Amino acid sequence: MKIRFCFFLLIGWMGCNLSTETSDPAPETQSQLSLLSQRAIADLAKIPFDSLQIPRTIEADGKLKGTASKSWTSGFYPGLLWQLYGYSKEEKLKQAAAQWTAVVEKEKMDDGTHDLGFKVYCPFGNAYKITGEEKYKAVFITAAKTLSTRYNEKVGAIRSWDFNKDVWKFPVIIDNMMNLEMLFEATKLTGDSSFYHIANQHATTTLKNHFRANNSSYHVVDYDPVTGAVANKHTHQGLNHESSWSRGQAWGLYGYTVAYRYTGNPAYLAQAQKIADFIFSHPNLPADLIPYWDYDAPNIPNEPRDVSAAAITASGLYELGTHDPANAEKYYSRADQILKNLASEKYQCSTPPFFLKHSVGSIPGKFEMDTPIIYADYYYVEALLRQNKINS
Ligand code: GLY
Repeated sequence: MKIRFCFFLLIGWMGCNLSTETSDPAPETQSQLSLLSQRAIADLAKIPFDSLQIPRTIEADGKLKGTASKSWTSGFYPGLLWQLYGYSKEEKLKQAAAQWTAVVEKEKMDDGTHDLGFKVYCPFGNAYKITGEEKYKAVFITAAKTLSTRYNEKVGAIRSWDFNKDVWKFPVIIDNMMNLEMLFEATKLTGDSSFYHIANQHATTTLKNHFRANNSSYHVVDYDPVTGAVANKHTHQGLNHESSWSRGQAWGLYGYTVAYRYTGNPAYLAQAQKIADFIFSHPNLPADLIPYWDYDAPNIPNEPRDVSAAAITASGLYELGTHDPANAEKYYSRADQILKNLASEKYQCSTPPFFLKHSVGSIPGKFEMDTPIIYADYYYVEALLRQNKINS
């Protein structure tokens, strides 16, 4: 039954003013998930299957911009279809999810990127969880092996990028925390502890070097691959090296929550809590909890929001609450507020196949500067599913 609902009723009876919290959110979430499932089915007819055009964003002229499987975003559309199939059990979604997922399979062998968690685990991990079919498991275990080749024991981390070699020798970005789930899961499923060792050490090294005293994170930490020493701390997608790039803070919150799920290391839980505190006590976080693209962006409030950062944060908070009962209501309530606001006209998108607008890819890179982006939708759906589970 709805423990949260009973809690709110009790608080209400005690005379507290919880006007927006006294309704049971489960039916609302269910209808939202049903609507999104129907939207995704209707959109299938408008998004012809094309292995080189996996939906990513829309161009300035409103046309769909797709990518080949090599892009770091290639797993999100198939992953999103799997998530909605898992909820709705609509056969059309399963067929489409399987078709788009197959396109990405070859990426399991690409050892030139750290993005294998995003690319391979989002579609294949969801496919395995939802269908139980062994063929999906084998693909992400191969990807975990490939990703492991980018680990440097001296540094104690997985190398993120291979570009900008004149600037960085061994760059590790906060986003890389999102690849660890696939490694932890690979150990769980195979019994091979090497994946766990790499993931755990990566999280420990990142904890040591990526965070400032206020618990915000640097985007890029570059290491000397021979000595393991930190060479420099940079940004790539944030305002400047010392600013707090919003999606990076979201990746950190989500990533340390997952690392705690698999290791039980209290330092990881504490880091996720501290990142949440950084985000929600930040004076530049707008009242609707949808952050600007960088917490230090110079022209706030006239700066683009990043809906993707909000969606990732909401999803992370729902899991964080399950590990931290003492603070669960606080985290759930913030995540509920984010989802409620994302469901408003301001943020909803009607261009197929996207659900949300106002995300940012990279302001310094001058691309996707205020637009729908598929990974915002992926984490939005994941957050709704988590909210639904908590309230059911
Ligand atoms: N991992 C790339 C990004 O968050 O934009």
